[in-house]
Amino acid sequence: MTIAKIFLLATCIAVASDPIYHIITTLFSKWRRNYKPRSLIDVLCQRYNIPPSSKNVHKVIFFPDTGLPCRRFLSGHACKDPRCYGVHHETSLTVLLSVINSCLHSLDVCVYMITCSSLGNALIECHERGVPVRVITDERNSGEEGEMTGCQIGKLRAAGINVRCHSSSFWMHHKFLVADIEVLVNGSFNWTNQAVMGNFENLMITSDKDLVHPYVEEFQRLWEKFEPKEVVVD
Ligand SMILES: *[C@@H]1O[C@H](CO)[C@@H](O)[C@H](O)[C@H]1NC(C)=O
Ligand SMILES: *[C@@H]1O[C@H](CO)[C@@H](O)[C@H](O)[C@H]1NC(C)=O
Ligand SMILES: [Zn+2]
Repeated sequence: MTIAKIFLLATCIAVASDPIYHIITTLFSKWRRNYKPRSLIDVLCQRYNIPPSSKNVHKVIFFPDTGLPCRRFLSGHACKDPRCYGVHHETSLTVLLSVINSCLHSLDVCVYMITCSSLGNALIECHERGVPVRVITDERNSGEEGEMTGCQIGKLRAAGINVRCHSSSFWMHHKFLVADIEVLVNGSFNWTNQAVMGNFENLMITSDKDLVHPYVEEFQRLWEKFEPKEVVVD
C-alpha cells in the first residue's frame, strides 16, 4: 500500500513538474522584460539626495582628494583589511567614478591626458558592460611618442575602446565627458593621479540641456574631424 502511494506521489510530481517549470520560467522572463535599469539621472539623484521631482543633476566637486579610494569600497563591498590605506568614504574621485559606472547608453570622453588608472579601469569596465565608449585625447599624451608613466591610452585601445587623437601644435585642452547624452562633466580636472591627490581642480556635473547639448555636438564634430586618415599604399 505504501509503495503504491509513493509511486502515485512520484508520478504526480513527474507530471506536475513540467507545467510548474513552464509557469516559473514564463513569469521570470516577463519580469526580466519589464525590468529597466534606472536612468543615469535617476541613479545620481538618489545617490546625492537630489529630489527626484527636479529630474536635474547639478553638482560641483573640488580636488585634491585626501587619498585614493579603496578598491573594495569602490566595488560596494566592506573592506576588512586593517592594513588597507585606501579611502573608505565618498571623495571627488568616487563621485566622478559614479557617473562613469552608472552610465547605460554611451560615454564620450574628451580629455587632455589620462594617466589615472582608476579612471582608465572605469572606462574599460564601462566598455565591457556593452556601453559604447569613445575617447579623444592629445596625441602627445597618447603614449605613442615614447613611454609616458601611467598612460592609459594603450590599455584602453587594447581593451577595444575607440580612441582618436588630436595632433597639431595646438593642445587638445578640453577636459569633459558626456554620459548617456544627458550628463555633462566639465572642469579643470585632468585625469592624472597628481590632479586627484595634489592639484587644486574643479569639476561641474550637470544635466542642464542648454549646457549638455553644445558639448554633445562639439564632441561629435571633433570625433569626425580626428577620424584617422586612410593610409594609401601604392
Ligand atoms: C568647463 O571647464 C573649464 C575649465 O574649468 C571652464 O573654463 C569652462 O568655463 C567650463 N565650461 C562650462 C560650460 O562650465
Ligand atoms: C594637467 O593638464 C595641464 C594642462 O591643463 C598640463 O599642463 C599638466 O601637465 C597636466 N598635469 C599633470 C600632472 O599631468
Ligand atoms: Zn580598504
